[in-house]
Amino acid sequence: MDKTIEKIVSLCKRRGFIFQSSDIYGGFSAVYDYGPLGIELKNNISNLWWKEMTQVHENIVGLDSGILMHPKIWEASGHLGAFNDPLVDCKQCKSRYRADEFSENYNSINWEKTKCPNCGSVGSLTEPRQFNLMFKTHVGPVEETGTEAFLRPETAQGIYVNYQLVQGAMRMKVPFGIAQIGKAFRNEIIARNFIFRTREFEQMEMQYFVKPGTDNEAFGQWKDKRLKFYLDNLDINKDKLRFHEHGRNELAHYAKEAWDIEYKFPFGWSEIEGIHNRTDYDLSKHEEFSGKNLSYFDQPNNDRYLPYIIETSAGLNRMLLTVLADAYWEDDKNNRTVMRISPRLAPVKAVICPLLKKDGLPEKAREIVEILKPHFKVLYDQQGSIGKRYYRQDEAGTPFGITVDHQSIEDNTVTLRDRDSMKQDRIPIEKVLNAIQDSF
Ligand code: GAP
Repeated sequence: MDKTIEKIVSLCKRRGFIFQSSDIYGGFSAVYDYGPLGIELKNNISNLWWKEMTQVHENIVGLDSGILMHPKIWEASGHLGAFNDPLVDCKQCKSRYRADEFSENYNSINWEKTKCPNCGSVGSLTEPRQFNLMFKTHVGPVEETGTEAFLRPETAQGIYVNYQLVQGAMRMKVPFGIAQIGKAFRNEIIARNFIFRTREFEQMEMQYFVKPGTDNEAFGQWKDKRLKFYLDNLDINKDKLRFHEHGRNELAHYAKEAWDIEYKFPFGWSEIEGIHNRTDYDLSKHEEFSGKNLSYFDQPNNDRYLPYIIETSAGLNRMLLTVLADAYWEDDKNNRTVMRISPRLAPVKAVICPLLKKDGLPEKAREIVEILKPHFKVLYDQQGSIGKRYYRQDEAGTPFGITVDHQSIEDNTVTLRDRDSMKQDRIPIEKVLNAIQDSF
């Protein structure tokens, strides 16, 4: 694993952001648990996305569909037949690879002459075998054919099969969108780079239903809007974001056009979100497999058609990793590690510290906790030297430190410390709330 990622993994464990699943049993590969700070950060990110989609856009509404769905859905969507990764094994050292890691055009590789990247032996790699990524389970007590079900590999299909119900109930007119946040599962051959590629993850997907012929224009608009979200809402460094267009070999079976938003992670440029023109592929397949008419009736124009779908599909966990990687800063000058997370996203907005555990300072500090805690999450800390307390919170990404000292008792002022500059200002207690709120 890359060194910076290793440091982020260790910080995440130390400060309570992210833990390996089933730690006391030696861990469970490619599944992670989110600790107290991790879940706060994850919620802050997903709330921003939800607000951006369903509040800022009046023509987008939300949905929460089941993880388990009718198995025919996966036949119709093509996931049962085509949601495969090409798997290559080394017979010598038992290492396992995705064939497309060797080359996008892996079909033209001569595997007999290819070296195993792990043990170096030549002639030990198998020909690629197709491996379906969906997790299979059984519904009901008996495991037999007819009881098979799948954990959804994308949240999108739950939206497609509910689209007419949502449209009718909410009287939506094309163009309109349906947004959903939820778990998805993929039996990834190789899970690596911490929470970047895992077997259980969360997606934030929005499906935008448009009239055929207007899809290219809508696609361009959503591309721009989604990039802007990373810059304006998550405050991600502009130079570390870029678009990547899918070539012919990369396009998913449902897509006419696809662009990824990529971030420059310590392990290289990698996808965080995909924007896809899925045409009427999914709806026409569901019409075929369900036998139901899924067309939309455009009353004013007396027109009936199957809408095209523009999809924006982001991984919440990857977005969180983007925020963490972008925030990680080794401040060598001051010998500290800082998570420069935007105050808007920070799990805890301020730490409140009495300088001493006596002379009425803890009581005064508690008064400030009471003022701030109805508005956002704060922490009271009286353990250890003030420097240590601040450095702990620098690693946790807490943007503000408030110190209560003897002067606070006399004139109702405190010092407000900025995490990144370490600058301290003395301000009246009554101004603390605004000072913090103004930062996000
Ligand atoms: N509905 C379209 C779809 O699922 P995708 O490109 O396969 O498209 C969309 O996935 C997003 O889901 C990716 O950009 C990524 O952020 C996230 N994602 C996919 N597989 C993942 C995995 N194994 N672990 C974490 N996130 C994943």
